[in-house]
Amino acid sequence: MALRLSLHAYKKLESLDLRMLQIIEKNMAFYEYVPMEVICRRLRRDEKFVSRRLKFLNELGVVERLKGAYIGYILTSRGYDCLALNVLVKKRIVSNINLAPLGLGKESDVHLAISTSGDKIILKFHRLGRISFRQTRRFRDYVGERRHISWLYQSRLAAQKEYEALKILHSVKVSVPRPIFQNRHVVVMSYFSGIPLYKVPPLSDPLETLRTIIQNVRIAHLEAGVIHGDLSEYNVLVDVRNGSITIIDWPQWISSTHPLAYFYIKRDIENIIKFFRRKYKITMNLDEVLKDIVERGEGTAE
Ligand SMILES: Nc1ncnc2c1ncn2[C@@H]1O[C@H](COP(=O)(O)OP(=O)(O)O)[C@@H](O)[C@H]1O
Ligand SMILES: [Mg+2]
Repeated sequence: MALRLSLHAYKKLESLDLRMLQIIEKNMAFYEYVPMEVICRRLRRDEKFVSRRLKFLNELGVVERLKGAYIGYILTSRGYDCLALNVLVKKRIVSNINLAPLGLGKESDVHLAISTSGDKIILKFHRLGRISFRQTRRFRDYVGERRHISWLYQSRLAAQKEYEALKILHSVKVSVPRPIFQNRHVVVMSYFSGIPLYKVPPLSDPLETLRTIIQNVRIAHLEAGVIHGDLSEYNVLVDVRNGSITIIDWPQWISSTHPLAYFYIKRDIENIIKFFRRKYKITMNLDEVLKDIVERGEGTAE
C-alpha cells in the first residue's frame, strides 16, 4: 500500500517539485519544519508560486505542513520514497516494480522489481523510527548519542549499513544477495529465488543445509569481520530446487571487533541450531561449533 501511493505521487511530480522536496530534505537537518522563506530563497521563486506548489505537494501527501508559529514543511515518508524512486529511475536501475510487497516487515517493505536489463531485483525500503521503541534500541549502537534522530536519518542509516555489509560479504563469497545500488533508505539487491527456512517443506538434506549456514556464518566472521546479529530461520532463504541458501537482512550487523561480538555470534548460531533441533531433530553442540568459529581467546569475552 505504502509504495503504491508513493509511486502514484511520484508520477505527478515535475522536476521543480522534486527540487523542492530535495530542499526540504536537506534543510530538515537544521529545522524541525523548514520555513517557507528558506524554500523560496533556495528555489529562487516568490512566495506565491512556492506556496501554491507546496499546497499541491501537501495534497499528494509528500510533505506535511506545520500548523503553528510559522509556515514550515517537512518531508513525509512518501516524499522520501519519491526522492529515492527518482534516483532509481534516472539512473536506470529499475524499470518496473511489483506493487504487492514480498515482505512487509516492521522495519522494511520489500518489493520485487525488474531491472532495465530485465533481471529480477529486490528493492528494500527501510522504514524506521516511527513504529516501535524496540527498533530504535536496535539501532542505538550506530546512531550513537544523536538525540533528535529522525526516522529519515535512521532509515537511511539502516540502508547504508545493510548495503555496506552486503558489499563486504559478497566480496568474500558469503551467500548473500548481490548488492546493486543504494540511495537514501532503499537498498537494491539481486533476487534470490527461495523461501524462508521456516516455511520450507521438509528439506531433503537438513544436516547439509545446517552445515552450509554455519560455514557462511564462519566466513562472514573470519573473513569479512561481520556478524549478522539477527540470524534466524526467518532470514535464511532456501532454494528448494537445489538446496542452496542465501542469508538476508543485514542492517543490524555487528563488527567482529565489537565488544559484544561473541554474544551476538553465539546467539545467531544458537537460533539456527535450535531451529534444526526443533524441526529436524538434528543435534549439534553449540560450544563445539563456536569453538570452531571463534578464534581462541575471544571465547572468554562473554
Ligand atoms: N534478495 C532477496 N531475494 C528474495 N526475497 C527477498 C530478498 N530479500 C528479502 N526478501 C523477501 O522479503 C522478506 C523480508 O526481507 P528482510 O530483508 O528479512 O526484511 P525484514 O525482515 O526487515 O522485513 C524476506 O522474508 C523474503 O521473503
Ligand atoms: Mg527479516
